[in-house]
Amino acid sequence: FGLLKRVDAHLGEYLFQKSRTKESFSDNCFSRSSSNSSIVTDEGLFEQPEPLAFSSAVMEKILWRRGLQLRDQQQAWQESLEGTRMLEFRQSLPAYKEKDAILSVILQNQVVIISGETGCGKTTQIPQFILESEIDSVRGAVCSIICTQPRRISAISVSERVASERGEKLGESVGYKVRLEGMKGRDTRLLFCTTGILLRRLLVDRNLKGVTHVIVDEIHERGMNEDFLLIVLKDLLPRRPELRLILMSATLDAELFSSYFGGAPLIHIPGFTYPVQAHFLENILEMTDYRLTPYNQIDDYGQERMWKMSKQAPRKRKSQIASTVEDALRAADFKDFRPQTRESLSCWNPDCIGFNLIEYLLSYICENERPGAVLVFMTGWDDISSMKDKLLAHPILGDPSRVLLLTCHGSMASSEQKLIFQEPEEEVRKIVLTTNIAETSITINDVVFVLDCGKAKETSYDALNNTPCLLPSWISKVSAQQRRGRAGRVQPGECYHLYPRCVYDAFSEYQLPEILRTPLQSLCLQIKSLKLGSISEFLSRALQSPELLAVQNAIEYLKIIGALDENENLTVLGHYLTMLPMEPKLGKMLILGAILNCLDPVLTIVAGLSVRDPFLTPLDKKDLADAAKLQFSRDYSDHLALVRAYEGWKEAEKDLAGYDYCWKNFLSAQSMKAIESLQKEFLSLLKDTGLFDGNATNYNAWSYDQQLIRAIICYGLYPGICSVVHNEKSFSLKTMEDGPVLLYSNSVNARESRIPYPWLVFNEKIKVNSVFLRDSTAVSDSVLLLFGGSISRGDVDGHLKMLGGYLEFFMQPAIAEKYQTIRREFDKLIQNK
Ligand code: CDP
Ligand code: MG
Repeated sequence: FGLLKRVDAHLGEYLFQKSRTKESFSDNCFSRSSSNSSIVTDEGLFEQPEPLAFSSAVMEKILWRRGLQLRDQQQAWQESLEGTRMLEFRQSLPAYKEKDAILSVILQNQVVIISGETGCGKTTQIPQFILESEIDSVRGAVCSIICTQPRRISAISVSERVASERGEKLGESVGYKVRLEGMKGRDTRLLFCTTGILLRRLLVDRNLKGVTHVIVDEIHERGMNEDFLLIVLKDLLPRRPELRLILMSATLDAELFSSYFGGAPLIHIPGFTYPVQAHFLENILEMTDYRLTPYNQIDDYGQERMWKMSKQAPRKRKSQIASTVEDALRAADFKDFRPQTRESLSCWNPDCIGFNLIEYLLSYICENERPGAVLVFMTGWDDISSMKDKLLAHPILGDPSRVLLLTCHGSMASSEQKLIFQEPEEEVRKIVLTTNIAETSITINDVVFVLDCGKAKETSYDALNNTPCLLPSWISKVSAQQRRGRAGRVQPGECYHLYPRCVYDAFSEYQLPEILRTPLQSLCLQIKSLKLGSISEFLSRALQSPELLAVQNAIEYLKIIGALDENENLTVLGHYLTMLPMEPKLGKMLILGAILNCLDPVLTIVAGLSVRDPFLTPLDKKDLADAAKLQFSRDYSDHLALVRAYEGWKEAEKDLAGYDYCWKNFLSAQSMKAIESLQKEFLSLLKDTGLFDGNATNYNAWSYDQQLIRAIICYGLYPGICSVVHNEKSFSLKTMEDGPVLLYSNSVNARESRIPYPWLVFNEKIKVNSVFLRDSTAVSDSVLLLFGGSISRGDVDGHLKMLGGYLEFFMQPAIAEKYQTIRREFDKLIQNK
């Protein structure tokens, strides 16, 4: 097993040699300068202006003159007809009334915290106030304001909005920058970017040179990146006394932030919303003639989905909810609802009932209610797209002359995004199916009705089992109130909560911050690449520090996969991984895929693991769907089945038959398209690492029984590994940590009675009652030994013999050479044994 270390060392050396061909390794991402055009693909956006050719006195004059120009431009716009109207709108927002107060507090304090209800004008107005006051004081040409958003879609939509409020095009004084996309010009003084982008800038510019204001928006969401950024900024403030930090929150619990920043002043913007009437499930059943379907008759596809209590609700609440849900449903004359046990009630999936109920309520609103848009909060993209399909088949809701049906989620394209804000024609009702993104970061003005399913997808992480899961869980009270508030923007509204009042009462007050409920691996890598010292010491300074065990697990994982060395320093592999903003395991696959010239299938796999499962399993056609998936399976691998399915789709797309192909094969066309675009994104990220030259990247892509791809998958997914033990009729699976485990029913390996390999590597395990593995690939001993790292298993001896021959088999000459030494070691080892 000592050999494995050597393999690692070899790969490390190889990467290191590669990296030395660059002038400055860690600055690689940022060293290329961009062209002067205002559309910039990736980095380069943060380069300093280029005043080099002038003396500072001349420069000052130029900037001063530019400042005056900016001021004149703005004045001219505000005097124009459209400009006046826009200004009037802006002045009607609650934030505008606080303008002077906000500006004076910012002037006098380094850190300011501003809270105010969603839609009161924080995001669009406050950065503008600062910009305007700088321009008025003719310092406008030198100020540089960065406003971070947790999601790319809000960064883009907000920057567009602000530019249009200023009568400009994007890329003039207002710009945006998200990963792989951006719009910024020489005059851009206000930049909206994702939090991740600012963190990447800190990588090369620790003092944020030239930046005058940093605004961190939506801090109430307590995203991991935001919490992380706050620690870094807190350290930065003493080094940059003139830098201003403004934190913005949509909820009132801002004292926490204030005390974190040594009692920074709080400003609250009093809001205005019209009253919204809340209807809970029992009221809905009372006022409509809708009847819930008994549990055992629900044939919605969603039935299989696991239903999980929100982590933060204590155990006793669970049973409390269980009994009260039951009571509520009984009270609602729901006679047939007879859960066998408490357990089966906790498996009761409100989403299922939600699906039919949502359809019913939407048609009820369309037929009986006054005009006004409807906003439907659902758990995720997959739910939204299924719901959309269901609604499109409905006689009223699917009729475009009566309903404008739109969707809103984090991964939608910016063109799609603009549709949400558009006004429908008269007599047409706008219905927007959305994730919790519309809860606080996107405001749709004309909403009068809100449907709230009560859940949101949340990553949670169980440090004890070291198992991450992304499951719908109950939202918090604050979220439910936010959702309700969306209905009262323009007139009194109605909110339909699709769960009983008693469930709401059991919601926790706030959601747990992300840093406390997700794996910390990427975060730890970032801490290391920003040279912020000891990981656990750094994280102990967070607003709320994660459990020590979670931190240790993450560090341990990074050591096992070779991203950190024994002393917690970044290895060369670790450096490369920090350049790839994705889970380390996916980054590892891409890196090895590039090195071993086997890129296309690996790109497909990595992209496939980043989108919703492309293999659909409608409940009523489960057998057909499983059979369709099996056609793609020849390799005892879900990952390779995906590659084959995707390649088939690409072929079909050439004849414009992609959609039919997906329909026939139970594939999601949306996921296929998403994979295609992600592949491009990943490829360009990978090019930036300099690991390959962009040409001969695939000559190893397909080989006999796919050993090379298996090796790459194994390299990424290790230590997600389980052993296959055959008995007479079938096989059983075991992992080191969990003991016996099961395969997810739609895995191709679940259909096999024998797997001619001793190991499975898997992407994800989910704990329900037993532990289930999702997406697995069978690998041989040699692959596991060389690419997986060491694993203690009793009967390795018998398998060692086969190793020698294999090596030559899947190595290209150039790489095989590097493994010659290892090969000799193997031979020696086998002889010794
Ligand atoms: O950040 P906050 O939730 O406080 O509000 P905002 O995003 O600054 O939006 C203020 C107002 O601008 C909203 O209430 C909308 O009326 C309007 N707005 C818009 O019409 N179109 C956008 N893309 C963004 C905002
Ligand atoms: Mg906002």
